[in-house]
Amino acid sequence: MKTASPFYRNLEDALDARRKSHTFYTITQTAWQITDTAADFCSNDILSFGSSGILSAEYLEELARLHQANPGAAGSRLADGNYAYLEETEQHIANFHGAETALLLASGFEANVAIWTAIPRPGDMILYDALVHASTHEGIEQSLAGEREEFAHNNIRDFRRVLTAMVDAHPLIKQGKRSVLIAVESVYSMDGDVCPLQELIDAANELCPLGNAQFVVDEAHSNGIYGPGGKGLVCALGLEKEVAVVMHSYGKALSSRGAAILGNETIKSVLLNFARTVIFTTAPSFSSIALIRSAYRLLDSAHGIQAQVKVHSLVDLFMQSTISHPLWESASQAGILSVPLLRAWEESSLATSHIVTIRSRQQYTYWLHFHLLLAGYCVLPVEYPVVSKGQSRLKVTFHAGNPEEQVKGLVQAIFAWVQEITDIEGRKGNSQIAEVSKSAQQVYTWMASEKLTGFGMPSSWAS
Ligand SMILES: Cc1ncc(COP(=O)(O)O)c(C=O)c1O
Repeated sequence: MKTASPFYRNLEDALDARRKSHTFYTITQTAWQITDTAADFCSNDILSFGSSGILSAEYLEELARLHQANPGAAGSRLADGNYAYLEETEQHIANFHGAETALLLASGFEANVAIWTAIPRPGDMILYDALVHASTHEGIEQSLAGEREEFAHNNIRDFRRVLTAMVDAHPLIKQGKRSVLIAVESVYSMDGDVCPLQELIDAANELCPLGNAQFVVDEAHSNGIYGPGGKGLVCALGLEKEVAVVMHSYGKALSSRGAAILGNETIKSVLLNFARTVIFTTAPSFSSIALIRSAYRLLDSAHGIQAQVKVHSLVDLFMQSTISHPLWESASQAGILSVPLLRAWEESSLATSHIVTIRSRQQYTYWLHFHLLLAGYCVLPVEYPVVSKGQSRLKVTFHAGNPEEQVKGLVQAIFAWVQEITDIEGRKGNSQIAEVSKSAQQVYTWMASEKLTGFGMPSSWAS
């Protein structure tokens, strides 16, 4: 790169900063994608519609039924890109989720940007949960709203505090002349925890009794999984009439791509008139809409219902097998293993989804990840900057296609590692070179030979 032009050198300098802080991303295929033996506990194909081939079959049937010549769209939605099948599918989706209208877009990211750039009008305010997705932040940053405040994640007391301060500081909000738009997600992907939506709505109605506090619920991680028939949290709680805007995206449980924004006629008109990610882009293609339509058909079938039930039963199996394991008590007391959602799961089946995170001491996150990978279980390590420093964890995503034996095997592998760590901690301090787990040893030996550091490698291992 020394001989490269300043243009490329400057770009490489920016990448070097990432490399140095171990936050440099590359794209890889994980073991479950390239081997037949590794178990997928990380992909978003939650109902296994994609990997089982069932969605492809349904999609081909849909295409054959429709005889459509053009697989694309002939323009932007406001020009020549509107077509009957797109409109019919939007109505089908609106009816399925109990909404008045739906507007389809090419992705959840574009949908969130559309919502937050079009719906809050000048003088409105935005309140958002601290853990909302990057696409919501992107939209909020570009929005016309006067003020944006965050409240602590899923914390009703903090929500009340911030909303009260907002109402007190802005007479037009107090008088109901301007609105507060509130951004939440039904299921938060970093921990799999569920939004206390009813409690937040009750608090908002109490503090803004004139109806000018309205919610936008991102159902990316509940679509197809949560609530009756996979209709999402809003439907599960019967809040269809109380939530102004709901976003369902299709890249996860439905194994497709795209998103629908649900709301009333006013919301749809506002999006069509003000959202640049709707106006200045090609309408969703016929082929992408046919895939979404096929996925909805499957979701509403006996197969879809069984898949949803299976996912939840696997989460129950994982939780049960974890708490009944002979090492669980001692491991959790020693801080070697924790499952933050466990207590909530014990209290209510509605408190969990298909995502469960497991945590250990921060320095062990990658050791457990290496151990599980080598044992054939792909789970996702989640590290800074995706989560705050000191909050790293392993995210386990359950799928309809995971056999029960795989879940039991995963729990056994986790506790084999717990035993190994317990033994290592018992022997601590005997050697100059910090003792690491067997799987971490394999990885660090190779990394040291390549002069690489990071991923939990103790400094004494770095060459
Ligand atoms: C909560 C949430 N909202 C929106 C999106 C964006 O959806 P898409 O992948 O369809 O762009 C994601 C994707 O990861 C998400 O997790």
